[in-house]
Amino acid sequence: MPRKKKERATQESLIGKRVYLRPFGRNDLSYVQKWSNDPEIREMTGEAAPMSRAEAGRFYRRLRTDKDRIWYAIVLKKGNRVVGEAGLLRMFKPWRCTDMTIIIGEKDAWGKGYGTEAGRLILDYAFTQLGFHRVSIGVAALNERALGYWEGLGFKKEGVQRDGYHCNGEYSDFVMMCILEDEYKKLHTREHSGTT
Ligand SMILES: CC(C)(COP(=O)(O)OP(=O)(O)OC[C@H]1O[C@@H](n2cnc3c(N)ncnc32)[C@H](O)[C@@H]1OP(=O)(O)O)[C@@H](O)C(=O)NCCC(=O)NCCS
Repeated sequence: MPRKKKERATQESLIGKRVYLRPFGRNDLSYVQKWSNDPEIREMTGEAAPMSRAEAGRFYRRLRTDKDRIWYAIVLKKGNRVVGEAGLLRMFKPWRCTDMTIIIGEKDAWGKGYGTEAGRLILDYAFTQLGFHRVSIGVAALNERALGYWEGLGFKKEGVQRDGYHCNGEYSDFVMMCILEDEYKKLHTREHSGTT
């Protein structure tokens, strides 16, 4: 009898106003490879080395098989343009904790609110659908845009790893940040009450 293949739970798209997140597909690999090979983005995200084609293949296989991560392509509704990737990783259900990641890889899409919208979609999914209590991130202190971004989403600094990051021969602090489910829900409710 053929062995039944273990399937991951079906991953749904998350739909926002201007962007939507759809499950990451093999065709999106070329974008990730392009962004991972961009020195400016590598410096901000801590990718130590450029991503080869073989590594891109391994990355994709992990996304398909690892149960502790979910990954999305960030797509602009207008023109269905892929501008980034985002996901949850190191999801640990027993502790209701997870890490999060996001890269808007297309630089002309920076600073237009797409990252914030995509981040909220993921957080909403993590807290209200997946039942997580805590979402964490580590940010290189040199990445000022990202620090402002995470704070804007409601993340709080928890601690600093002094010189915890090393890139291009320079050290930078590594800032640990997190948001808890109650904080997110409060912020979310406040933002939506009185403004709509
Ligand atoms: C960080 C990132 C996800 C933010 O997404 P974005 O769509 O560019 O940001 P938004 O337009 O949603 O802006 C959100 C906040 O980020 C900060 N921000 C955005 N552009 C900024 C800039 N040029 N300088 C400083 N802060 C900036 C601000 O705090 C901004 O809030 P505000 O608009 O109320 O001032 C995106 O720029 C990115 O992917 N950068 C490269 C990869 C990266 O750094 N990933 C995160 C690793 S931890």
